[in-house]
Amino acid sequence: MQVPLLDLKAQYATIKKEILAAISEVLESQVCIGGPKVAELEKKIAQISDCKFAVGASSGTDAILNSLMSLDIGAGDEVITTPFTFFATVGCIARVGAKPVFVDIDPKTFNIDPALIESAITKKTKAIMPVHLFGQTAEMDPIMEIAGKYNLAVIEDAAQSITSTYKGRKAGSIGTVGCFSFFPSKNLGGVGDGGMVVTNDEKLYKRLVIMRNHGSEPKYYHKYVGGNFRLDPIQAAALLVKLPYLDKWSEARRQNAVYYDKKFAGTIVKTPYISPDCITIYNQYCIRVPERDGLVAHLKEKGVGCEIYYPVPMHLQECFKHLGYKQGDLPEAEKTAKEVLAIPIYPELTDEMKDYVAGTILSFYK
Ligand SMILES: Cc1ncc(COP(=O)(O)O)c(C=O)c1O
Repeated sequence: MQVPLLDLKAQYATIKKEILAAISEVLESQVCIGGPKVAELEKKIAQISDCKFAVGASSGTDAILNSLMSLDIGAGDEVITTPFTFFATVGCIARVGAKPVFVDIDPKTFNIDPALIESAITKKTKAIMPVHLFGQTAEMDPIMEIAGKYNLAVIEDAAQSITSTYKGRKAGSIGTVGCFSFFPSKNLGGVGDGGMVVTNDEKLYKRLVIMRNHGSEPKYYHKYVGGNFRLDPIQAAALLVKLPYLDKWSEARRQNAVYYDKKFAGTIVKTPYISPDCITIYNQYCIRVPERDGLVAHLKEKGVGCEIYYPVPMHLQECFKHLGYKQGDLPEAEKTAKEVLAIPIYPELTDEMKDYVAGTILSFYK
């Protein structure tokens, strides 16, 4: 049996006609930039995120970049974030000229440890960027409390966590801004790149709108240096087709997780910890295991897809050498990077496939 980490063709088969019709509608209209599809998606993403405003973006990365630029974060500023994330989180901080400051993670949740944030604050700190990793939100109450105390912005990197909740509040709605990615592997994935920023701050919303279009308002008059951060209407059209299915797909992922949790209970395989404060959307189901690299080879041989998210924490990346971090500085992130492994969790998995995945993993430790 072959079980890929993700099977986008299986999902596409269920909605192919709708997607083709929606894309064709955009092409027939020849509204190729902005337009009604982008506006409708923005309205709907704001609604499902319990936010007043949403601004489309060309990717999750550009959603973060636009947020940083619209908050006037740049050279001389520091942004506190997690070392255990996808590169884009930290790459954007560096690209605006600010300094990423890392604090270690809570090894249970994989998310930034709020207890370590306050001691990392300096006079230069402008923002905290928690990442809601693998579908579960970071512990937001203490983060918001610290941000309030020091007057810092909070940029939620919710790229992997659209519609997940923390104490009943939606990812992206708790901080100053929330950033989503519509990368095809996300729970709500486009047919290419896409993203969105959500906020409840009207002034910031207006700035985000201006900044996504080269900082121009009115056209050809540039008060700011922005970028081309626009969401493609073809992506918006495809995402509007997929949006009504999102909750059903996320629930199927949660059911798959229940299945794995039972299979791995009492074994050497550590299953993901989900805080009672959170409802996760399981963008990834990441186990922690000993002899991880041996297991990866075993799974490959047996036709089971898996991926290491993420093998090298950000503070040890070559491009951030100048920041001066060294091995051992953030031990929980470093240990996690050696043990973590994402296994197939996508909604279309059958019981037979899940059995095969779990059985193949456990057979490695016999
Ligand atoms: C945590 C995190 N942040 C940011 C991004 C960037 O999103 P995108 O790939 O849409 O640019 C991703 C997605 O890959 C992500 O997982």
